Formats: sequence, structure tokens, C-alpha cells
Amino acid sequence: MKRSLIKDLLKLDCAVNGADVNGADNLVVKGWVRSLRKGKSFSFIMLNDGSSQQSLQIVADSQLANYDDVSKMTMGYCVSVQGRLVSSSGKGQSVELQAQSIEILGEVAPEYPLQKKATSLEFLREVAHLRARTNTFGAVFRMRHALSLATHKFFSDRGFYYVHTPIITASDCEGAGAMFKVTTLDIDSPATLPLSKNQQGQQGHQGRQEKLDYTKDYFSRAAHLTVSGQLEAECFALGLGAVYTFGPTFRAENSNTPRHLSEFWMIEPEVSFCDLDQLADLATDYLQFLIGYVLDNYFPELTFLQELQGQQEQQEQQNEGLVARLQQVREAKFTKITYTEAITILERSTASKQFEFKVSWGMDLQTEHERYLTEQHFRGPVIVTDYPQEIKAFYMKQNSDGKTVRAMDVLVPGIGEIMGGSQREDDYQKLFKRINDLGLNPDDYWWYLDLRKFGSAPHSGFGLGLERALMYITGMNNIRDVIPFPRYPGSAEF
Ligand code: 4AD
Ligand code: MG
Repeated sequence: MKRSLIKDLLKLDCAVNGADVNGADNLVVKGWVRSLRKGKSFSFIMLNDGSSQQSLQIVADSQLANYDDVSKMTMGYCVSVQGRLVSSSGKGQSVELQAQSIEILGEVAPEYPLQKKATSLEFLREVAHLRARTNTFGAVFRMRHALSLATHKFFSDRGFYYVHTPIITASDCEGAGAMFKVTTLDIDSPATLPLSKNQQGQQGHQGRQEKLDYTKDYFSRAAHLTVSGQLEAECFALGLGAVYTFGPTFRAENSNTPRHLSEFWMIEPEVSFCDLDQLADLATDYLQFLIGYVLDNYFPELTFLQELQGQQEQQEQQNEGLVARLQQVREAKFTKITYTEAITILERSTASKQFEFKVSWGMDLQTEHERYLTEQHFRGPVIVTDYPQEIKAFYMKQNSDGKTVRAMDVLVPGIGEIMGGSQREDDYQKLFKRINDLGLNPDDYWWYLDLRKFGSAPHSGFGLGLERALMYITGMNNIRDVIPFPRYPGSAEF
């Protein structure tokens, strides 16, 4: 017999008086017991199969052959139920399944760590292999799927092509050096080359006499996990017009915060014939599309999470309800200011004395500043543009003032930076000089520079961290709770 999904059964319109639903006899559902309430002649089982936020009520009659075993089941048991769908007089559900037979597929050992009483998110992180069984993580991970699907829909409908940029790469996109090495060299006794006297004094070699001989390594050169697919996406934007990458990216920086992961998923559109203003419009449309998509399709998940956050004492993110906030942002125009204007606002603010990092033009905005701007000052998403060149990556288009670049960061309440992007430097000479000035090796970027020699075009792009977007849209406060198995400094369990 074919298994039905609980989400589909819950949609069935039952006859008002409890009569059989047409064709709804002999249904089979399979899932995990969320709770069991034992009555005199019946037991009521809430069954969840992961297909929806809501569970289905199963009514188990004491006449069932294995009723003794069934009525002793606890949370987490896996069962297959065959039965008849009828309208329910019980509170909170329109239909229930009257069990004709219940087969226990998987029992639960006594040490099962999930309990009926609310378990803390911190604890659940330690049993991440089981957390998909909870209502909270069911909601979060269905919405993670939703944002991924909505991303493809948004870009595809606008004529963007999905490109798969490499995960192993030899170029450092952000020029920041926080990369995981990929090597098959024997780390206990790697192949080495002698260093010249000159090199021994150089930064990174610290008086050592030899260096790794990467020509003996797997790729015959140093390689690492990508920090961003942008540089390769640019190659494709300058051929296919508009593209996006969506894949895992890796950062080896030692950031132990609720907003950073060592492995996260990034969506990076790259668009030819697009300037920074058009890019900001695209970023706004995209974020609003994602929000609209979950409001329209995942309302039970959103309302569940909203209630959950209402119960949390230390709620960082929500002042008003999650749903109301999303509904407002879906329609709102995002404020756009320059970095210089942002600095003026921060300097003049009454909060300026409380900032841990003192504000001055040229500094990188810290999370506390970003959050002040978006939470206190503007109370909504803010796009900050035209940052100082010195604090941004080498590839950003230089403004004529000689000091700033056409960069943009999108800031949102509760999080700070959710997206970062820029118009790209499309002038060969300027880009070459910038790479040199920063001490990067132009030879490493030969193909990237080529793009500016052969039919260069104005183009722009940004990156959205999927997990940051998910935090914002679910209201979850810790990034480790929106990715199935988080990787962060000191932890790669599961
Ligand atoms: O600002 P980032 O570093 O920009 C880039 O990588 C550009 N190459 C993107 C582009 O223009 N195509 O990262 C972009 C976004 C951030 O705004 C943030 O949402 C997310 O990626 N992000 C992280 N998310 C989780 N953990 C980390 N360690 C993150 N670092 C960046
Ligand atoms: Mg950034």
C-alpha cells in the first residue's frame, strides 16, 4: 500500500459529521511518535513524518491486537499505521487517523536524549544527528530547503544561469589568506625546498631554512578550499551575461561567534552591464523574494518559530513578531547610505561612547556598529555603499575620489551584514596596480586579469550567506542552529 504524506492528509477536507472521507480508507502513514496520551479505551498518538510542521493525530483503539505494546510507546518510536481518515472533534486538528493496524518499526532505547519537555538548543547541538526529529529543527530545515529552492527560482526566472564554480582552487578571492589547505603531502615529512637568505627573513617563513615544495604536491602547486566562487563566476558572467553560484565556501579564520561558520553556503550572483545601484536593487528584490516565498509557503513553520521565540527569555532578535517583521520587510524600501554617512551617524549617536571599537573614518564597521545602524537608527535593512578602499578586497571598482570603492554591504536587524558585494574593477591597469600594491602576485591572477583585456564590461555581484539569511528569516539566534552539521573552530563532529 502506498504511503501518504501527513502534509497531504492534513489538507484533505473531511465530511463535517465524521463520515468517511471519500477514498480515504486504508491509508498508510509512517513516521515518528512525538507524544502518546493513554486513555481508558483509546490512546492518542501524535505522529510526525517530517513533511509538515503539524503532526497527525492517530487514534489507537484498545481492540488493536498489539495494543499493549502500542500504548507503551514513547517519543521517538518509528511506526507504520494503516487506518481511516475521519474528521476530528479534537482541538487543533481537523482530521485524525483511526488506526486499523499499527506496526512498530523502530523502538527507542531508554537513553534517548530527546525528551518531551523543551530541550535547549545548546544541548541539541551536541546531538545534532537527532535534531531533525524536533519541531524546531524540522521547521528550520524545511525553510532551509525553501530558501534554496526560492533562490534557484528567483535567478532562473530573471535569466541567470547557475554555474558550479570549483571548490578546490588556487586563487584567494578575498585576498585575506584565511584558507584551508588542500594537500596530499606527507605532513610528518613533507617535501621541502631550501629558502634563499632573502626569503628566510620574509614574513611567513620566520627564520626557517626551507619551505614546502608544492611542485611535489597533488596539484603541483599550493591549493585550498575556496572562500568564494566569485572570481570564477565573473568569467562566466562575461560570457553568459548573468550567472550565480550556490555552493559551500570555507573560511579558516578563528571566528567563534554566533554569526560565523568555517563552512557555509553562499549564493553569489554576478551580472554584466550592471552598476552598483542596479546591484543594490537586485539584492533588495532577492531578499524580499525569499521572504515572500516563505510567507506564502511556510506559514506554519514561521508561526511555530515565532511562538518559540516568544518563549525564549534572551531573545536577541525579535521586538515585534517574526511574521509581522517579515511582512513589513517584504514591502519596505531599503535605506541606502554611504559609508561616510554611516560614520557620521555613528559618531553623532548617543551610543558612540558605548561602542567597544571607537568610530573613525577608515575603520571597518564592526558588528556592534552595523547593528546600531540597522536596529536602532534605521530600524530596518540598510545598504551601506562606497567603503574605504583599504578595508575592502582588491577587485572592487575604484571611485574617482581615490579613497573609496564601489562596495556595498546589506545590513539587517539582529545580524548585521547579511550580504556583501561590489561593482568590479573592469579597468586592466587599475586592477593590475591594485593587485601589486597589495603585495599579491599578479601571476596568480593572470586569467582574472585577462577578463579586463579581452572585451571587458562593467559588472557587479554580491554574496549572500545562506545561513545568515536563514537566521534572519527564522529568527534563530545562533548560526550553528541553521546548518545541519556546523563546522567551527575546534569542532567538526558528525
Ligand atoms: O563579505 P564576503 O566575505 O564576500 C565575499 O566573499 C564576496 N566574494 C561575495 C561576492 O561579492 N560575490 O561574504 C559574503 C557573505 C557575507 O555577507 C555573509 O552573509 C556570508 O557571506 N559570510 C559568512 N557566513 C557565515 N560564516 C562566515 N564565516 C561568513 N563569512 C561571510
Ligand atoms: Mg563582507
